[in-house]
Amino acid sequence: MGTHKNLRGKVPLSIITIFVCALAFLVLLYTERISFLSSGSIFRFTSCSAKLHAAKLKKSRDEYIKPISYADDDRFEFDPEECSLAHGKWVFNRSVKPLYSDRTCPYVDSQFSCVKNGRLDSDYRYWQWQPDDCILPRFDPQIALRKLQGKRLMFVGDSLQRGQWQSFVCLVESAIPQRQKSMKQGHIHSVFKAKEYNATIEFYWAPFLVESNSDVHIIADPKKRILKVDSVAKHAKYWTGVDIVVFNSYVWWMSGLKIKSLWGSFANGEDGYEELDAIVSYRIGLKTWANWVDSNINPNKTRVFFTTMSPTHQRSADWGNVNGTRCFNETKPISKKRYWGSGSDKGMMSTVAGVVERMKVPVTFINITQLSEYRIDAHSSIYTEMGGKLLTDEEKADPLHYADCIHWCLPGVPDTWNQIFYAHL
Ligand SMILES: *[C@@H]1O[C@H](CO)[C@@H](O)[C@H](O)[C@H]1NC(C)=O
Ligand SMILES: *[C@@H]1O[C@H](CO)[C@@H](O)[C@H](O)[C@H]1NC(C)=O
Ligand SMILES: *[C@@H]1O[C@H](CO)[C@@H](O)[C@H](O)[C@H]1NC(C)=O
Ligand SMILES: *[C@@H]1O[C@H](CO)[C@@H](O)[C@H](O)[C@H]1NC(C)=O
Ligand SMILES: *[C@@H]1O[C@H](CO)[C@@H](O)[C@H](O)[C@H]1NC(C)=O
Ligand SMILES: *[C@@H]1O[C@H](CO)[C@@H](O)[C@H](O)[C@H]1NC(C)=O
Repeated sequence: MGTHKNLRGKVPLSIITIFVCALAFLVLLYTERISFLSSGSIFRFTSCSAKLHAAKLKKSRDEYIKPISYADDDRFEFDPEECSLAHGKWVFNRSVKPLYSDRTCPYVDSQFSCVKNGRLDSDYRYWQWQPDDCILPRFDPQIALRKLQGKRLMFVGDSLQRGQWQSFVCLVESAIPQRQKSMKQGHIHSVFKAKEYNATIEFYWAPFLVESNSDVHIIADPKKRILKVDSVAKHAKYWTGVDIVVFNSYVWWMSGLKIKSLWGSFANGEDGYEELDAIVSYRIGLKTWANWVDSNINPNKTRVFFTTMSPTHQRSADWGNVNGTRCFNETKPISKKRYWGSGSDKGMMSTVAGVVERMKVPVTFINITQLSEYRIDAHSSIYTEMGGKLLTDEEKADPLHYADCIHWCLPGVPDTWNQIFYAHL
């Protein structure tokens, strides 16, 4: 670890190499705690530090965004046909009041409870996403609940999706009196009920969407994971009858390894797999998912959304902080327009777009990638837990190994994802 200096100045590694390096050592930790979202996952970054520092970067960090004046604002109210929410900028506004905190909302997983876990700087909570061409409507909990009246809303996917689900629940829950709501946390499937609205807001754990041997009991070693890329029924039976379903799946495919992909059943033993490049396996898995959606979902009854990939910030040199330690100690967003780091794979993004394009059932993207790319300041970092325990002071002092630069603090960036989702509801 002490050798960064010698390496600096060498030829920059290709983005792919760095990405593989950064993610190859992510280890998924898992505890058997049933109490609180025990399907919990924390990716861990354990090595590669020297290589991460090896790339030479010219760009200095950008000057930061200043609050704008609304005096000459000619942006329109949001209309999904007219305005892309993916293009815009973050505007700092200290008078914004987040609708909840990790103390007021009882449903925030301690993995995301940054303030409770000791984060002292607070600026990251006061940035608002401002699209270039229109005004993003404010999230109104009452209106959101009315739109969900008599309906089931389900988020399906990985721990990032679980963050989005918890954010959504927290955004609406303070508008519901205590006796009118309930939460049932399950190992795989969790259900929040808003009784007077006869509505549920659910989460279903399926990190690859398709089935794998690592769904229920997570296998920490990505090499031992095997995906049944043609099977989704075991999960999908929980998705039927849902009125609004929001999928995601990305980061679990990005271990940097080939994906052990299996067709048919495990009957022939687990050896019948083929090792495929992640993007190939991803395309097959997504097609399996798309076929299920097309043959089982009636678009007149059910709306389907897909949250695009959530960026990781494992490599501070990407944004010009050559002496930084991944996202640790970052307190301001990047302001460079269209900044795109090595943690977001455009090929994976266009794979989803390509599969969705050919579907019969319309799927609306919640395109969070670009706006989240800017937010190096908003990850859980060292204010998180591992294996059900808060990081110790020693671990906190070693952000290179322990900072979580994949997941996000709540309240935080996933609230904006939901603001965009809400605008489409
Ligand atoms: C800041 O937020 C407050 C409260 O939401 C709002 O009234 C005000 O217009 C915002 N100011 C700017 C510059 O966005
Ligand atoms: C509540 O919503 C469910 C669908 O989620 C529906 O089947 C049921 O009829 C609704 N009940 C009432 C009382 O509206
Ligand atoms: C959806 O509604 C349209 C118009 O009412 C109808 O033509 C179509 O057959 C319906 N589709 C399904 C799958 O029910
Ligand atoms: C990074 O740290 C080295 C010494 O450790 C220093 O010489 C250099 O100026 C620093 N670079 C930046 C951009 O802060
Ligand atoms: C974190 O950043 C501040 C300046 O923003 C700096 O003074 C401090 O030394 C940094 N802490 C660590 C542990 O790098
Ligand atoms: C999401 O937005 C980015 C631009 O920020 C665009 O390049 C990408 O194609 C969009 N993804 C999808 C799936 O629409």
